[in-house]
Amino acid sequence: MRLKRSSARASAPGKVVLFGEHFVIYNNPAILAAINRRVNVSVHVNNTDRITIDSDLGLVGSLKDSRFKVLKGTKEAKTILAPLCESARKVLAERSCDLGLDIELVSNLPDRVGLGSSAACCVAITAAVDSLFHKPDRYWIYAKAAESERLIHKDSSGADCNISTFGGLMYFIKGKGFKKIHSKKELSLGLINTGKKHSTAKLVSSVKEFKDVNRFSFKVLASLSKNISQKAYAAIKEGDEKTLGNLMNQNHVLLQEIGVSDKKIDRLVEKCLTKGAMGAKLTGAGGGGSIIALIPRNEDSLRIFFQGIGKTVRGGESIPVKVDYDGVLVA
Ligand code: PMV
Repeated sequence: MRLKRSSARASAPGKVVLFGEHFVIYNNPAILAAINRRVNVSVHVNNTDRITIDSDLGLVGSLKDSRFKVLKGTKEAKTILAPLCESARKVLAERSCDLGLDIELVSNLPDRVGLGSSAACCVAITAAVDSLFHKPDRYWIYAKAAESERLIHKDSSGADCNISTFGGLMYFIKGKGFKKIHSKKELSLGLINTGKKHSTAKLVSSVKEFKDVNRFSFKVLASLSKNISQKAYAAIKEGDEKTLGNLMNQNHVLLQEIGVSDKKIDRLVEKCLTKGAMGAKLTGAGGGGSIIALIPRNEDSLRIFFQGIGKTVRGGESIPVKVDYDGVLVA
């Protein structure tokens, strides 16, 4: 395919999982919301045979043929950047074009804390590179970005790439697709990033071990999770915040049962409830990461909640978040 232009920009939002993380990998429903924090990508065609990525995490690396080299940063740079270079390479291969690229990543989404930053990077890079050739199709972006995300963690449900591509609130079942949820009331959400980074791949495999050892219990927990997500779907549509908050609390207990919460998360979830949240739970893979809380939609409740939690949570932060309805954007 012929190049339409020599540079492009795209951005994609992060996400929170409101219900059903981990169980979603085993074909149970999950509810996700895209959030108003994004990864921004710019892509320029260069006249080398390399794809180079420069990230504002202070990491630089480049891919030539199938060899990745760290140019700046620790060994960790390879784990983070190599799959992202690969996602750009995949798009070029699909468009039968062998080009060198300079990719710049700027993110206002903290990485490895359950907010879908790797998925958002895969989505934004796929979209930016494909838009060098034509106007990209969202379904195609999603499919390619999800393939790339599987290089980062092989059992990914694909939910993160889906919500980052399409935005909004959605009910997602792996392999079956998604339904957009039209919420009757705007959700008032508080996000607490504990500052403790996690490895989604490790947590997903620890849940698999739990499942293999406790087959019966896992089956019961998965069916409870399914039931919670189904009820939450109805509660969001009806704007029933009280029920939604209760369901979040119930969902957190299931995540404790499968071993992905920890003392710090549990303490913060408790604190959210004492500071007026209607419900709170960990969001994403757990093992540190982030917590999401549903707060009554009025100025006083928001003020009391954020004053009570504090702006900074040792190494992390607490912030109000809004649902992002745009999904991936190409400029
Ligand atoms: O990688 P995280 O922490 O943003 O969360 C991923 C959600 C999981 O259900 C744990 C994994 C998946 O692929 O759905």
